[in-house]
Amino acid sequence: MTRILFVCLGNICRSPTAEGVFASQLQRSTLMHDVCIDSAGTGGFHTGEAPDRRASAAALQRGYDIRALRARAVVDEDFERFDLILAMDQSNLNNLRARAPAQARAQLHLMMDFASGDWPCEVPDPYFGGDDGFERVLDMLEAASCGLLEQLAKPSC
Ligand code: 4NP
Repeated sequence: MTRILFVCLGNICRSPTAEGVFASQLQRSTLMHDVCIDSAGTGGFHTGEAPDRRASAAALQRGYDIRALRARAVVDEDFERFDLILAMDQSNLNNLRARAPAQARAQLHLMMDFASGDWPCEVPDPYFGGDDGFERVLDMLEAASCGLLEQLAKPSC
């Protein structure tokens, strides 16, 4: 079993969207029983909240229902429990690296490291912007999820 954690700042926009998009792709793949996923925020100020309504609405329009997800903060155990922790932007990644225990099992990467094609390396925070920001987030996360799934499907040796 490969365990993957998607991480952004608040866990109400980008990382729940990443979880929803990847879950959908995973469901339709041969790896559906081999990978488990979750999402969290480096900040805990939205703990217990549902995803941002704009993120939920944009996701639902593309067939991803993320409304039942609830925000939580990253905890120390995540670095042991997960194999891969994927940050939405460099600030999230720096934060994770700074707090990772020395013997952390999880590998830390940017989510967009897995996207093939000409994409920026960070998923921009859509929280203070307009609806087009949420569409952009979905475009980027669909590309990165696709690449991530391809990478996981490759034989490891
Ligand atoms: P997220 O977006 O990190 O993609 O969930 C944000 C959500 C909330 C805030 C910032 C970013 N906030 O400042 O409350």
